[in-house]
Amino acid sequence: NKGKYDHYMQKEIHEQPESLTTTMRGRLIRGDSRKTKTVLLGGLKDHLKTIRRSRRIVFIGCGTSYNAALASRPILEELSGIPVSMEIASDLLDRQGPIYREDTAVFVSQSGETADTLLALDYAQENGALCVGITNTVGSSIARKTHCGVHINAGAEIGVASTKAYTSQIVVMVMLALAIGSDTISNQKKREAVIDGLLDLPYKVREVLKLDDEMKDLAQLLIDEQSLLVFGRGYNYATALEGALKVKEVALMHSEGILAGEMKHGPLALVDENLPIAVIATRDACFSKQQSVIQQLHARKGRLIVMCSKGDAASVSSSGSCRAIEVPQVEDCLQPVINIVPLQLLAYHLTVLRGHNVDQPRNLAKSVTTQ
Ligand code: UD1
Ligand code: M6R
Repeated sequence: NKGKYDHYMQKEIHEQPESLTTTMRGRLIRGDSRKTKTVLLGGLKDHLKTIRRSRRIVFIGCGTSYNAALASRPILEELSGIPVSMEIASDLLDRQGPIYREDTAVFVSQSGETADTLLALDYAQENGALCVGITNTVGSSIARKTHCGVHINAGAEIGVASTKAYTSQIVVMVMLALAIGSDTISNQKKREAVIDGLLDLPYKVREVLKLDDEMKDLAQLLIDEQSLLVFGRGYNYATALEGALKVKEVALMHSEGILAGEMKHGPLALVDENLPIAVIATRDACFSKQQSVIQQLHARKGRLIVMCSKGDAASVSSSGSCRAIEVPQVEDCLQPVINIVPLQLLAYHLTVLRGHNVDQPRNLAKSVTTQ
């Protein structure tokens, strides 16, 4: 049931304040002796000791689920101190990459039925790793075959393009980082800030959804383009990859997410007055580096769309060929949840304006159950 919406993708983008609330329900609770809140992931509580002792955490997934894991990697590394590596499921299988008994392998999948992710799970299990699932579908193959895990509880996702599952996956993995992370004094302030940020996140997502009309106008400007580049780094490298994935998969427009730190190692050659380039430059530890990326793109007369924090539009769009999208600022590890929303809206409107099928993009299936 699409309710008042024209498409499931549109409905699922707009219901994110609610789906995120459901994802967190019952999982942020009051701590024993302190006034502060703490995280309780029922499915993991008997396994946290083992996870904390593991030598490495390996995230494994495909497509949007991989991108969600990538967005969560920095906070997991920061709070746990455990090295986190990333594997696209098919690539792990192609290489038969090393997985050890001392590893915790985390399988991220909305459907819980993706063939490559399932085969990678069999492979990790054969190699003796502790296998953790992060799935949306209760009773799915990945939920059943993993040793333990967390349901993201985002509600059924029907549009082939994954939207609300992405943001709920990130929130679950941030909670995972809080649950695994040591409760050292040095981390305490950060943990409290992240928990407060989580509780406030649905309200901030509601705020960023107000950019809908602005994104429709932007889509109108980009309707006949051949390509869109998206530059991001740090927490928002994943935003660049995921934004580009949405644009190519539903709007059928070439789009590429690029790690901004790699700009001078090739992509800069593409920059001219015509190619639209989105740059994610919200405030976090990478902000000043992104400012200098913007200056260098300006110097080459790049056609920029800059996503920035509220109040920063004037400083980033000093050039006439630059458009700014202002988004609410949140805790750095949660910013990817906010920043993907305008790009989801952009991909949606581009698809409608270009006359393509929104919920069933050409050649794609919701769940990729064959290799
Ligand atoms: C569980 C109940 C929830 C109830 C809550 C009350 C289910 C599915 N969930 O939620 O209805 O409100 O207790 O305390 O009955 N698991 C995996 N792999 C995965 C995902 C999950 O093995 O990919 C396992 C978990 O380890 C756990 C079980 O499935 O044993 C349920 O996981 P989850 O729904 O996340 O647990 P709770 O949030 O505690
Ligand atoms: O169900 P899964 O999360 O395992 O699916 C993984 C990918 O097939 C999926 O995320 C795909 O990339 C989406 N259609 C992207 O929107």
